[in-house]
Amino acid sequence: MLAKKNDVLLLGEPRKHMFAGLQNAFSVHHAVDPDGSDAALIDRLAADLRYIAVTTPGRVDAALMSRLPRLEIVASLGVGYDNVDAAHAGRHGIVVTNTPTVLNEEVADTALGLLLCTVRQFPQADRFVRAGRWEEGGYPLSQSLHDRIVGMVGLGRIGQAIARRLDAMRVPVVYHSRRRQPNVPYRHYRHLIEMARAVDVLLVIIPGGPDTRHLIDAAILDALGPDGILINVSRGSVVDEAALIQALQQRRILTAGLDVYADEPRVPDALRAMEQVVLFPHLGSASHYARRAMEQLVVDNLTAWDAGKAPLTPVTETSIPQSRRP
Ligand code: NAP
Ligand code: 8YV
Repeated sequence: MLAKKNDVLLLGEPRKHMFAGLQNAFSVHHAVDPDGSDAALIDRLAADLRYIAVTTPGRVDAALMSRLPRLEIVASLGVGYDNVDAAHAGRHGIVVTNTPTVLNEEVADTALGLLLCTVRQFPQADRFVRAGRWEEGGYPLSQSLHDRIVGMVGLGRIGQAIARRLDAMRVPVVYHSRRRQPNVPYRHYRHLIEMARAVDVLLVIIPGGPDTRHLIDAAILDALGPDGILINVSRGSVVDEAALIQALQQRRILTAGLDVYADEPRVPDALRAMEQVVLFPHLGSASHYARRAMEQLVVDNLTAWDAGKAPLTPVTETSIPQSRRP
């Protein structure tokens, strides 16, 4: 007789490769509401549920976890996991996993693309040709990356992949993070405001969540100054969006390139109205190649756990039981 498959509650969009992989190994229950407020389904599963898989726009908060007395693991799609209350999970012996590393190069490519588009105005130039305006005269000269210093806000896995690309382009890089990174050739700034005063570009690639909320505020934007460019590929919550809009409208900074927003997928009209700003729809890792690897990692984390092994990529808030350590 075939063994009964264990249940997985799936919150958020059911990504194709991940969904198929989960269905092979588990009995998958897709909640209609991404935050688990689908009371009938949760009530039906609550007593026995041990595994959750979550993708955007899914959320796993303390209230949901508290309703699931046997919950063991939350496997989240994405390296950022600010949609999961990992601190609560850690305190209650629930493991949280994310999907780091496999997306580094894709997100770094996107960040570089966004940076170049913003500095050199490539999307605007494309719109200019399509509108038939070239025959009326050439496109105006743009800014350059080659008279600028890029200040990385965050120099982790993805930040370092971005910095390597800037090295190849011979663009100077410095960085801010809470700790100095060993073995990197870039100047470290302990204080973000000092770095903002010293650079012409801030490129933000740090985790979201309460610790970094509005780290980029009016004071940081003013320190960056009227020639300054802000690139955000981290989370919308890291930037005070109202302060950014005001700084752009008042020309207190030059322009911005954004992949992430405070209330996705809603993007403020004020940003959409600004011709100089470049806006991507949160597509840092959005290639078939990267997403397949990320989706597979969600499946691999859950199947490893289901087989009594350690998860492959637990987050730092999580401690793995001794019995499962390799
Ligand atoms: P990571 O390896 O953990 O690196 C995070 C970096 O941020 C480290 O340098 C860390 O240094 C720094 N940092 C963390 N908290 C900070 C704080 N409060 N102040 C200043 N610096 C801080 O993470 P990663 O893999 O590079 O990913 C970074 C983030 O990018 C993710 O969490 C996610 O939110 C975002 N992301 C976005 C996309 C997209 O599609 N746009 C795709 C992938 C990832 P210290 O710990 O020393 O401070
Ligand atoms: C994805 C991301 O958009 O990995 C992250 O932190 O922001 C992106 O790669 C997302 O998490 C999956 O939808």
